[in-house]
Parts: sequence; C-alpha cells; structure tokens
Amino acid sequence: MQNRFPDDFTFGVATSAYQVEGGIENDWSQWERMGKLKEPDARCGRAVEHWERFESDLGLVQELGASAYRLSLEWARLEPRPGEFDAAAVAGYRQRLEAMRARGIRPIVTLHHFTNPLWLQDRCGWHTPQVLPAWRRYAKLCAELLDGLGAAVITFNEPMVFVLGGYLQGVMPPGVKDAKQAAAAIENVARAHVIAREELLLRSKALTCGISQHLMVFAPARRWNPFDQALTRIAEENFNHGLLRALTTGELSMRMPAVISLKARIDGARDSMEFLGINYYTRSHLKFVPRPPFAEFGFRDVHGRGLTDIGWEDYPEGFLQVLKDTKRYRLPVWVTENGIDDRTGQRRPGFIHRHLQALLAARAEGVDVRAYLHWSLLDNFEWLEAWGPRFGLYRVNLETMERQKTPAVDYFRQVATSRELTAP
Ligand code: FCB
Repeated sequence: MQNRFPDDFTFGVATSAYQVEGGIENDWSQWERMGKLKEPDARCGRAVEHWERFESDLGLVQELGASAYRLSLEWARLEPRPGEFDAAAVAGYRQRLEAMRARGIRPIVTLHHFTNPLWLQDRCGWHTPQVLPAWRRYAKLCAELLDGLGAAVITFNEPMVFVLGGYLQGVMPPGVKDAKQAAAAIENVARAHVIAREELLLRSKALTCGISQHLMVFAPARRWNPFDQALTRIAEENFNHGLLRALTTGELSMRMPAVISLKARIDGARDSMEFLGINYYTRSHLKFVPRPPFAEFGFRDVHGRGLTDIGWEDYPEGFLQVLKDTKRYRLPVWVTENGIDDRTGQRRPGFIHRHLQALLAARAEGVDVRAYLHWSLLDNFEWLEAWGPRFGLYRVNLETMERQKTPAVDYFRQVATSRELTAP
C-alpha cells in the first residue's frame, strides 16, 4: 500500500471571503435579513474577523505545515458601487497576498465564491447578458491586483451549486425558481470563466487557472427503480460533468429532461483550465418525485460510520471513485476542498486519514492528483446553516474570536511535513 506523497505534492487549507472575513455587505447579507437561513435570526456579521486577524491566521496556516492557502476575493468589498473600486480594499487584499508570499505560502485565489454585490443582483443578475461586461470589469481589477504574485486562480467555486441553488431551487440568493434563467446563468458562468482568463492573460502569460467543481457521488434511493436510476445518471452527467466538459471541449451541452436543456458553443472555452479543481464531501441518494424539479435527495449512513454532524454521509470510497472519474479530462487534479462538520473535533483526524488514503489509492491508479486543500482553516459561516457547523481545523470561539487547535492540527502537520500517511 502506497503511503507516501511526492515532494512536490501541495498540502494546503481553504476559506472563502464572506464566510470568514466579516463586515461585508452583499447579496447574502440581504438574504439573511430576509430571514432565509435555517435560523431566521442568524447573521454572518463580523464572521470570524479574518480580515483583521489575517496576519496571525497566516501563522496558523504555517503551523499546519501547509504551503498553499486558498482564499477568495470579495467582489462587493472591491467594487461597492458599479464601476467604483474601493482603493483601501484593493490595497488591503494586495498587502495580505504579499504577506503570504513573504511567508512562502502560495496564494490560490478564488474570484467568485457564491456571493455577489447587491447592485449586481438589482441591475444584471447572472441570467442576463449584462452580467458579462460587469464581470469583465471586476476580472480586470482582479488581474491587476494579482499581478506578479504567482497566484493560481480559481474563477468560480462550485458554479453548479451556485446557479442551481440560486436560480432553479431558489434556496440561495437571488432565490429564483426558473429553469430558463438557470440555463442562461450556466451559460454566462462558462463565458465569464473565459473572460477572466482573457483579462488574466493580458497581465501574465504563465497562467494557472481552473474552477472548483463540486463532485458528488450520486446513487438511486431505490436501487432497482428505473426513474431513480435515470435521475442518478442525469445528475452525474450534468451536475458533475456538464461544465467540465464545456471548459475542456468548448461545447456546453446539458440535458435534464423537462428541466434544463442547453446547447451552446463557448468561444475560448476549449482547454481553458490548467488544472481541475474538485471539492468532494459526500454521496447523495436520489429519489424521483413526479413534480419539478423531479428529484429529492438524502444522505444515508451506509457504512455505519455515522453521518457527519451536518448530516452527510462519511464516504471516502466515493472520493476514490470521483478522483478516478477525472481521468477522462487528462488534467492535473487539485482537491480544492474536502472536510467535515465535526463539532467535537474528535472525528476529523480519522476523516482526513481515510480521505488521504483514497487520494493515494487514486494516485496509485494513475490519477494525477497534485494538491489537497482542507476545508477549512477556521470555523466559519456555513451559508444556510450559519453558525452550527464546525469545519475548522482551528475551532473559533464565536464570542471572543479566539482560535483553538482541534486534534486534527497536529495530525495534518505531521502528514504534510513528513509526506507520509500514517494512522492518527
Ligand atoms: C462547499 C462550499 C464551501 C463550504 C463547504 C462546506 O460546498 O464551497 O464554501 O460551505 O461546502
């Protein structure tokens, strides 16, 4: 059994701006005020004050033995009004990214991680063509901001989660339930990825750019039910692979019968990723229901490991499966998120161990996985679930903001620095 990571394998951690920085006003903060979270009074607010505590939080990244840190830029902070950039925010991000370089931590920068400025939603949502010039202006700013830092760039985090949640299921902002708008938004996201590359390429010829795609394992809720089986195939092909196909072949084609049908050439999208970023968490069992959107999903504790605290299946076997499945793209694979909501911190070392075992097994089978970024460095604001979940390697006291090691910190550091996978 292979248990060594090569010397050039990257261990890192990930966060996103809105979930940790604090003091951001965007479409999610409005969503919170509309009472849309699981607990209607919950707010992201000061989050975990990562904006103020950035420098000492970088100390934690180093304590983990990590050589890369994935964070996101917040569009609403950088461009609070259309066409007006906030110079202090631009300088603030620049300074933070330079501080990372100074400590030898490679920045991996996400340009869009679920959130949007409020003005974008009011004027030109992701389903409208007007979003593209607005996005180009933002992407150009990001390209300037990142110039010379040697950062890798992730244009979009989990675009299918963002679009389907926001425009088809209506459970995330802007809360729309409209298949036509969802289809238009998917196409615009694919075009926006190309636009961001164009702007980045104007600054630097050596581009390392991709997306972070949520890859979920799907299974039929009723094993022998042909509808559930069909649903499983459709989810797999569209949710997991639809956009990845578009960004490798240039052809966007999705078909979710009676929901979304989409076919478009995306100029410039062919071979438009230097790496394939994947986020892996769990498996979902799908059940066909005879009304839109025709699917219900749920999580099962098939292996008796116990569901994670957020209620997801702990399923490392699926990690191996999705990793093997990425071979078809012939791209280096970076795991840009993987983690567990573990409110006591006791389960996380075992979770990491099993998932890294799966990763090494995938490597042994020829999958070119080059990075593992754990979600997350810190406890943070978990979208609709707000402050219940605890994904942080460091636990945050939400009153005092004090950071505290969970047992996984020492384990992670040991693996990252020795490059050898041993049991916790
Ligand atoms: C992913 C998101 C990330 C975080 C984790 C738990 O889907 O990209 O922001 O919420 O789930």
